Amino acid sequence: MNLHYHPVLPQNRGLAIALCGAGGIVNDAHLPAYRKAGFKIAGIYDRRREAAERTAARFEIPRVYESLEQLAADSHADLIDVAVPATENLGIVESVAAAGKPMLLQKPLAEDLDTARRTIEVLDRHRVIAAVNQQMRWEPGVRATRDLLDQGHLGDLFNIAVLVFVDTPWHLWGWLMKKPTIDVLYHSIHYLDSIRFLTGQEPQSIFCDGATRPGYDTPGETRLTLHLRFAGELRATILTNHHAAYGLEGQQAEFRVEGTEGAAIRKMGLLMNYPCGVADAFRFTFRNLTPSGIGPPRDPTMGAPASVRPTPATSMMPLRSGPTDSAMPAWVNLQFPETWFPDAFVGPMSSLMRAVSGEIERPETDVHDNLNTLRLVFAAYESIRARQVVSLP
Ligand SMILES: NC(=O)c1ccc[n+]([C@@H]2O[C@H](COP(=O)([O-])OP(=O)(O)OC[C@H]3O[C@@H](n4cnc5c(N)ncnc54)[C@H](O)[C@@H]3O)[C@@H](O)[C@H]2O)c1
Repeated sequence: MNLHYHPVLPQNRGLAIALCGAGGIVNDAHLPAYRKAGFKIAGIYDRRREAAERTAARFEIPRVYESLEQLAADSHADLIDVAVPATENLGIVESVAAAGKPMLLQKPLAEDLDTARRTIEVLDRHRVIAAVNQQMRWEPGVRATRDLLDQGHLGDLFNIAVLVFVDTPWHLWGWLMKKPTIDVLYHSIHYLDSIRFLTGQEPQSIFCDGATRPGYDTPGETRLTLHLRFAGELRATILTNHHAAYGLEGQQAEFRVEGTEGAAIRKMGLLMNYPCGVADAFRFTFRNLTPSGIGPPRDPTMGAPASVRPTPATSMMPLRSGPTDSAMPAWVNLQFPETWFPDAFVGPMSSLMRAVSGEIERPETDVHDNLNTLRLVFAAYESIRARQVVSLP
């Protein structure tokens, strides 16, 4: 069958990227992903010059900038990719926005809503096309699930659950351990953004309870119960505990998306058994899925069956199908060659490049859209503080 899950790459691959930040995420995800996609890198800047030089040598980047000003002025650089702590974003935007170059900023855009809005005001004043690196939207399982939803296979979406019980070594990020806002702002923000992407809707209210493990030395939350209420019967829940330190056996990291006609379940192996991870998995079922393929679509107005879709698609063979008994639905298990890190990092940059070239009106994770994700993040903290459901007007 055919399932669309790859990012749409820009037609023009000639745009060159100037990077600001040469830390962990740039080395482990941005640059490996851009290399795979064949994107051009013009140069790199980090306030620690030695870090920029190391990264430049590793990824054959032609230029190490002396300053942000030099980066912004580089005539060979078409767009700027910023991956530094969120507290630096506004200052960097203020320094480089006048150059008018499109920008991709790492998540979270800011640590409070007011700063996020001010950052966007500066970008807007200089007419800068800008997006946030909420790349989980391009995680292969998220994209594939969205395609199943778009094709109508799962029917009416009514439930999303994100279940994460892992052993996250927060102490490796000493700066993060000291913050009063950890899981929602730095981790579950990905789930909130992906839930918005999968549902295509904004929730009406949110409840969140945050806590940590007894005796864990942090002012922030490392465990969550977060519930989003949408119109009608649609609900989404995020449950996390980052202290599941009983070996792999006791760990789980998955999201499940359920509709009236079927369901998709994604195991996010990357989050388990840190730092090695385990293999991802993806399985789905729906009413018209027969062991030999897909039956006619539920509703003829939804278009042709996936197997004869005329648009380019990726073909995958199911690794294993479920029982053939008609009383029991068949399940398809798929193994994608790509993973969240680094492959999903191609998505936000492709989307920005496509917007710059006029292929799409605006990047998918445009800064203005991202305000709606941040709105959920800060409403979650309001709910934690007030111990109440918070309405989202
Ligand atoms: N999935 C994801 O999208 C994901 C994953 C990890 C980190 N992040 C985000 O990426 C950002 C960077 O994370 P990291 O893990 O690479 O951190 P890091 O500490 O490893 O690297 C940050 C780098 O930024 C540099 N820097 C700081 N301020 C600067 C400034 N004003 N100008 C130039 N350079 C500056 C530092 O010298 C450092 O090299 C953070 O905002 C983090 O939340 C996102």
